[in-house]
Amino acid sequence: MSAPDWPRTWVTCPSDPGRSGRASRRRRSIGSSVAANNALGPGCATTVGVKIGPIGVWPPVVLAPMAGITNAAFRVICRDVQGAAAPVLKAAAPVEGVTAPVQGAASVQGMTVPVQDATLQAGGVAGPVDAAGLYVCEMITTRALVERNVKTMRMIRFAPGESPRSIQLYGVDPDTVGRAVKMIVDEDLADHIDLNFGCPVPKVTRRGGGSALPYKRNLLRRILRSAVANAGALPVTIKMRTGIDDDHLTYLDAGRIAQEEGVAAVALHARTARQHYGGTADWSHIARLKEAVTQIPVLGNGDIWCADDAMRMVAQTGCDGVVVGRGCLGRPWLFRDLQNAFNGSPERARPALGEVAEVMGRHLEALVGTLGSERSAVVDFRKHVGWYLKGFTVGAELRRELTSVESVDEFRRITNNLDQGQPWPPNTDTPRGKSGERSKVLLPEGWLDDPDDGVVSEESDVSGG
Ligand SMILES: Cc1cc2nc3c(=O)[nH]c(=O)nc-3n(C[C@H](O)[C@H](O)[C@H](O)COP(=O)(O)O)c2cc1C
Repeated sequence: MSAPDWPRTWVTCPSDPGRSGRASRRRRSIGSSVAANNALGPGCATTVGVKIGPIGVWPPVVLAPMAGITNAAFRVICRDVQGAAAPVLKAAAPVEGVTAPVQGAASVQGMTVPVQDATLQAGGVAGPVDAAGLYVCEMITTRALVERNVKTMRMIRFAPGESPRSIQLYGVDPDTVGRAVKMIVDEDLADHIDLNFGCPVPKVTRRGGGSALPYKRNLLRRILRSAVANAGALPVTIKMRTGIDDDHLTYLDAGRIAQEEGVAAVALHARTARQHYGGTADWSHIARLKEAVTQIPVLGNGDIWCADDAMRMVAQTGCDGVVVGRGCLGRPWLFRDLQNAFNGSPERARPALGEVAEVMGRHLEALVGTLGSERSAVVDFRKHVGWYLKGFTVGAELRRELTSVESVDEFRRITNNLDQGQPWPPNTDTPRGKSGERSKVLLPEGWLDDPDDGVVSEESDVSGG
């Protein structure tokens, strides 16, 4: 990867050439650059990306880790469909005489949202970017990793050309987490490590892991210290929920601890564990986290179903980037939309059924490589079929056939018979994937008695967040 020296903010100021170029090495983020734009006054536009440790990321978009979904095949399809127009950003020289079409704001479907990309749109100014988004793998259990569990070792494989390589780890024991991180560094298994403190699955929380863990502040601190100490130059980020439930919010303390311990960025899924995937994410918590955590980027997560949702999240919370989960299920085009939106373009991908079917076929083929057998791939792909076809008029019989094929060829034969020209359906920017609340969060006995005790949680084999 290149250019660790990338400045977070570049400015072009046509009305005052003396202020053009690398205007500031101050640590600014996308959200705060809106204010920066205003401070610079009319005629100046700011272009920023988010820095995750040494990695400059534009668009500031992260594919959320999703167990059973974000394997190499899925990540490659998402990156592919995004089309990474990001090389635009690599045209680093300012374009003389180019002025930004808007100053710090653009109108997206009637909303005013901040854009820092105005200069990009104008062909303009940017620093080197190392990553056109981050695409995080499925959650990996640290104990299984250090024990070199065969399935786990397969899960951390990346496709050729995947860069940067992002691994999400789940662990509850500082020593095991440290060893897992060291293994990743020593064996060059990834470029970025995310730690999962958001998993709400009962099997995990009842042992004090996942979203239950940040409640124990000392334990959280020890885990983060161990991870960062062993990570060398690799950035360590964390992903968490707002807390266990409304009476036990943990994210502000956790964010501050992460910052103090040298974590490179924090991502917040704006739901409690109790909420699971139900209700709506409360983005006001992301705004509050952004106010509390000022030295490192804050990434917002929860209920981004279309690119304009991401723009709204940035506008409302000031977050430095977004993490997208369920919205991209069966819809890798969302990453292209997000790229367009962050670059200030209103263009949105609206593939006809033929293109959707073609991408489905490629995804399935890629799964054969990732999972090691055609049989595993066709079985695994069943869950994706409904997401891809959401809203399209495809008969129940055809859908059923597509979820019971035995081979890639058979899949392609059936999809060849679909109405290739059928347009992208309306109303697809709506929830998909998991939903629903939990009546309570299972916790170890006495877990809530003292947030500052020196408890150690137990590791669990379960994945999911
Ligand atoms: C099927 C599925 C699996 C998930 N697995 C993980 C995981 O392994 N690690 C994690 O941090 N979050 C996991 N999540 C949570 C997502 O990363 C994300 O935080 C959550 O879905 C909210 O974002 P969204 O509203 O964009 O979907 C999972 C979510 C789903 C739907």
